[in-house]
Amino acid sequence: MNAALETLMLAFSADDGLRVPPRALFIGAESHPALGEWSDLIGWQPLKPLAAAWERAGFPRADDLPEGKWPLVLVLPGKSRDEALAWFAMARDRLEPGGKLLVAMPNTAGAGRFEKELSKATGNIVSIQKHKCRAFHATEDGGWNEEIFNEWRALGELREISGFTVQAGIFSSDHIDPGSQLLADHLPAHLPGNVADLGAGWGFLSDAVLKRCPKIQRLDLFEADARALECARRNLASYPRAITYHWHDVTTGLPEVYDVIVMNPPFHTGQATDVDLGRAFLKVAAASLRRGGKLLLVANRQLPYEAALEASGLAWRKIAEDRIYKILSAEKR
Ligand SMILES: C[S@@+](CC[C@H](N)C(=O)[O-])C[C@H]1O[C@@H](n2cnc3c(N)ncnc32)[C@H](O)[C@@H]1O
Repeated sequence: MNAALETLMLAFSADDGLRVPPRALFIGAESHPALGEWSDLIGWQPLKPLAAAWERAGFPRADDLPEGKWPLVLVLPGKSRDEALAWFAMARDRLEPGGKLLVAMPNTAGAGRFEKELSKATGNIVSIQKHKCRAFHATEDGGWNEEIFNEWRALGELREISGFTVQAGIFSSDHIDPGSQLLADHLPAHLPGNVADLGAGWGFLSDAVLKRCPKIQRLDLFEADARALECARRNLASYPRAITYHWHDVTTGLPEVYDVIVMNPPFHTGQATDVDLGRAFLKVAAASLRRGGKLLLVANRQLPYEAALEASGLAWRKIAEDRIYKILSAEKR
């Protein structure tokens, strides 16, 4: 269960709650059985696994956030502060006069703080607290503080770090990930053939592969976050080599096999499901290497990926480490 989504839906079940409008837009759309009764609901969701689930549930989806005006805009933001505020502004821009903006967030993501921020901009707010989350909504009454929304809108614009284009909400949007940097520093220059970058983000590792490995013929990027992939397109645009960009859930497998796979798999220390996600990446990588093919990955030192590599038929060795990260090189037997 997505607790924030459950709390969001509660806004419609209270006696004095919101009424389901004839049309609605859902930013950060996630499917819920109760939404099946809504007549005209369009969703935008940049994360592939969630977008696929939304479509599987039968809801219409827009690739790009649609332009237009709606009487209700639902917002289910991620963890990034700048992303959440930028999404409030994106929702504001799509509200009809008198329309309602409804947000839901977990308390651990700072729901109380974001509710206060929104109420400063709108002057009115109604809040529900349940499931360790908050759902809060405001009604556009002609008196909202547009200066605040202008500031928030700017937070969602493309920005630069170390010459790369990034955007709020995507992985490592304010600094180069030190683990990825360590892997980039240890990429063997002789890597050959067709290469895949799994969970490619905005393209940092791909850029390093293209810079350091003149023998590679093709590079395929696989990334779940459409916004990150769009940044990667910009960041790698100047390379004359063959590059393809896949908006893809890596855990569902890859369409072909590769000579080399590089990755900094997604994880979060201490959260079992994220370690499982990293393991799923390893399994897919092992299945998608040709015999003799090579996997190069970086991971936090305490993550138990070695056993997963062995279980997948890969012979591994540690080629570098520092206080936090290790670089593993593995070969398919
Ligand atoms: C640790 S980051 C590495 C990003 C990039 N390779 C770098 O080194 O900066 C992991 C990336 O995996 C992506 N990701 C998470 N789950 C995914 C999935 N199921 N399929 C594809 N990519 C996923 C995240 O969006 C994130 O960009």
